[in-house]
Amino acid sequence: MATQMKAPPSTKKAIVEVPFNYSSLVKRHSPGGRYVDAQTDADSPWVPFGETAAIKHLAFDVRRNLFSNILWVKGPGTIGTHFHRGTISMVVLEGSVRYLEYDWVATPGGLILEVPGEAHTLVTEHPDGVKLFGWMEGPIEFYDENAVLIETTDVWWMMNHYETYCKEQGIPINPKLYL
Ligand SMILES: [Fe+2]
Repeated sequence: MATQMKAPPSTKKAIVEVPFNYSSLVKRHSPGGRYVDAQTDADSPWVPFGETAAIKHLAFDVRRNLFSNILWVKGPGTIGTHFHRGTISMVVLEGSVRYLEYDWVATPGGLILEVPGEAHTLVTEHPDGVKLFGWMEGPIEFYDENAVLIETTDVWWMMNHYETYCKEQGIPINPKLYL
């Protein structure tokens, strides 16, 4: 039988110091939680991804080959067939997107899960394209129409994509993006 939670949401606003035996270790070794703004370019710029898309990089975690970003396809278009060797979780922020391999269309607020061993081809037919927020584990392998590997992307590819653009544009590298 389900039990009633004893600490449900309330209107009381107060900080409680939570006792934790290892808080000094946390202080020394944790990368720390943080907030990365995505409404403006203050924390991270839109970096061109081909002619018709851009990526706003939000986090790089080299320990787990994990990265977070917003992918913006600016109008009807395709992200070519790619093969995953890690797990992807994405939420549609704007527009819509579908995959040639599946029978669903993803719309704002919906969750897309992708798992290792899957190859698929992303298409947006929405007039405004699509914005997708995601947490991704690399590597992701991109293939041409003859199933020949073109390029593998992972946390190092994403970091290089971000840093190269920042250097070109004279934008300081934001340490908040590195976990
Ligand atoms: Fe994918």
